[in-house]
Amino acid sequence: MTRMDILTVALSVWFIFPAYVANAIPVLVGGGTPVDLGRNFPDGRRLFGDGKTIRGLGGGLMAGTLTGIFQAFISNWVIENLESVVVLSAISVETLRYVPSRAFLISLGALLGDLLGSFIKRRIGLRRGAPAPLLDQLAFLLGALIVVSFSFPFQLEYAIILVILTPLIHLAANMISYLIGLKKVPW
Ligand code: CTP
Ligand code: MG
Repeated sequence: MTRMDILTVALSVWFIFPAYVANAIPVLVGGGTPVDLGRNFPDGRRLFGDGKTIRGLGGGLMAGTLTGIFQAFISNWVIENLESVVVLSAISVETLRYVPSRAFLISLGALLGDLLGSFIKRRIGLRRGAPAPLLDQLAFLLGALIVVSFSFPFQLEYAIILVILTPLIHLAANMISYLIGLKKVPW
């Protein structure tokens, strides 16, 4: 990999980072009242299930947005340091310069995507916590990318890198959560 390739991967992760936090925090703070309030869909199965809670959504949205605000806070420092090693394009600088509204949209999209993922899982008859390969790892990412793209267009390259990288990061993070006892299953 060239220096430019590594930079592109790093920028992609920096761009989507609030979504990773928004997706991970509910595992820590979730629980309590489910988003669907226990209600069923006409097919007789739960709308989203007990794994999607109001506290998880609120905590994820807040934590993801705060993460982006922190990224905004350190972005000048990051840009200066990177510029001393590589030539940053205008688009790269734009990506690095975090704005709170972008973090909010990315977090919101991540949580909505995850919710839609659970909706789909329930419709095909998968119980809460059952593994749905790729859906479990990508629903939140695609939600984040779609929602943020309306206000903040980004390079297609980032999306491609993230679709490949995110399932690997997601699996590694869940495996660690499982090993330290945060999650009951390693997916
Ligand atoms: N969680 C939450 N609220 C959310 C998302 C997650 O409280 N909006 C918490 C729940 O305790 C959930 C855990 O984080 O069990 C892991 O999240 P996830 O794997 O997305 O949910 P699952 O329990 O696997 O449920 P599903 O089958 O619907 O994906
Ligand atoms: Mg799960």
